Amino acid sequence: MRILFLTHAFNSLSQRLYVELARRGHALSIEFDINDAVAEQAVALFQPELIVAPFLKRAIPESIWRNHRCIIVHPGIKGDRGPSSLDWAILRCETTWGVTCLQADAEMDAGDIWASVEFPMRAAAKSSLYRNEVTEAALQGILLTIERIEQGDCRPEPLDYDRPDVQGRWHCLMTQADRAVDWAADDTATVLRKIRAGDGVPGVRDCIGGKACYLYNAHPESQLSGAPGELLARRDGAVCRATVDGAVWITHLRAAEPAEGEPAFKLPATQVLGPLAEHLPEHRLLPTVEPAGATWQELSYRERNGVGHLYFDFYNGAMDSEQCERLRRAVAEAKQRQIRVLVLWGGADFWSNGIHLNRIEAASSPADESWRNINAMNDLCRELIETPSLYVIAALRGNAGAGGVFMALAADRVLAREGVVLNPHYKSMGNLYGSEYWSYLLPKRVGEVRAKALTENRLPLGAPEASELGLIDGCFGETLTEFEALVEMEARTLAECSTLGERLEGKRLRRAQDEAEKPLEEYREEELERMKLNFYGFDPSYHVARYHFVEKLPKARTPVYLARHRRLQAS
Ligand code: COA
Repeated sequence: MRILFLTHAFNSLSQRLYVELARRGHALSIEFDINDAVAEQAVALFQPELIVAPFLKRAIPESIWRNHRCIIVHPGIKGDRGPSSLDWAILRCETTWGVTCLQADAEMDAGDIWASVEFPMRAAAKSSLYRNEVTEAALQGILLTIERIEQGDCRPEPLDYDRPDVQGRWHCLMTQADRAVDWAADDTATVLRKIRAGDGVPGVRDCIGGKACYLYNAHPESQLSGAPGELLARRDGAVCRATVDGAVWITHLRAAEPAEGEPAFKLPATQVLGPLAEHLPEHRLLPTVEPAGATWQELSYRERNGVGHLYFDFYNGAMDSEQCERLRRAVAEAKQRQIRVLVLWGGADFWSNGIHLNRIEAASSPADESWRNINAMNDLCRELIETPSLYVIAALRGNAGAGGVFMALAADRVLAREGVVLNPHYKSMGNLYGSEYWSYLLPKRVGEVRAKALTENRLPLGAPEASELGLIDGCFGETLTEFEALVEMEARTLAECSTLGERLEGKRLRRAQDEAEKPLEEYREEELERMKLNFYGFDPSYHVARYHFVEKLPKARTPVYLARHRRLQAS
């Protein structure tokens, strides 16, 4: 089928649908929803048999939905309507939620229903539910919709609130008044629910020590307590704040009323609070320490059955210079332990998205901070490549982008959950050349020709396709639990395997040969030469693209590598 994606952005959900539908042989093209005229032009150029809207912020123009079948992916159960579906579902403690595929018509979210898929709710941030449960349900819903459309005689179901299976209702836009935390009254569970309902967008507006800010990424703390609302401690950029019955860690803030020159995007909490957080006691927690109760631990190292497991759950998968260095140190320490297999788990939502563009944008010299960050990433990658006595497994539970993908390739074996989407390219960030030893790691796995295609095409890749190409070594597990159990089993079997010594010997030999052919340092220098031009050269593309990305500026056009219909027109 010829399917046009009309979407606000090519986000994780649209990318997942894209790779899944492409795998099934559909002819796909993408248009960003910029305005009615541009959308109409895209439809005229591509002549789609179906239009799918995975992520829209405004209604599809009547000129389009009257003449073409348009399917809206709505993150709500049957009958649910309105712009804050998931937010309300979290705040109201729904135990089951869902995704409904509706045919667009005159009334918002009230079109005929082609498919509706439900899932059990999890105590997690809205963005995490969106990237996991919602994405899986949306995929099932879209596949069902296409199947029904292809059958020809199948009719969608009109929305009818008298039907017993239509349990949803209209809910208005959630306001900051609905989200507001009452620190003098709300218990930890309520505070967490409120912050999770607004994470990643728009956050919960609050006031800390007189500073107006939005709160993001909260985690329970069971040991610390204090006067409700009081700041108690800091740790790795996060602050701990007392509730009426305990405390929560809040890792990120966004200034709500930024002073002249102050960034208005998400940053680590201590950076936004500045002097307000400086006096707080630093509650360090080493990765090897297993906390007694609930707390927030960004980096953790555990050993089970002779295998080392390193978890790094960086918010949004973004890794700043300090985080890279902390992770590098944790890897170096793992190398000193009596283990022969190390599993790198990344975070549950993201493996890694490379250097931290927000931290870079906020720096007094973004070019210098980019340089520092990429060097810290490179140091980490080198620490991983140079592990002669360890077999390293990268276990990608969540998506990875740019340098994050290449960091994974530094491992000996790269495994991913089946639903993971990879973006193994840098170019869409203002022609960034990239580093992380990608010019060594990528061709070694896929060959020069494919390496060039992957980095130039700038398209997402599903884990099965990545596996077929040899970019990764395997993918399995429909769910996170299944994937984790299988990786754990594989790592344990490997650690107990009598031939592991031979494998490690083989690895040492290959590394020595590679080093003799061309030293790692040379790859690094060559890549950094190009990066220097990106950071300090005359072409400001990278700085402009980063600014647009961090400030979330609306897109002005759809790049031709996504808009196939525009490419066809150009040729
Ligand atoms: N630095 C800082 N923030 C980042 C980031 C990075 N490298 N990568 C992603 N994020 C943030 C986004 O700004 C967004 O923030 P929000 O919570 O305020 O909305 C959040 O992570 C989720 O990103 P989003 O783009 O919505 O996720 P996605 O899963 O839909 O898309 C990517 C994934 C990888 C395609 C996209 O995030 C991306 O292009 N990231 C930049 C990668 C990059 O160029 N890295 C630098 C070069 S190494």
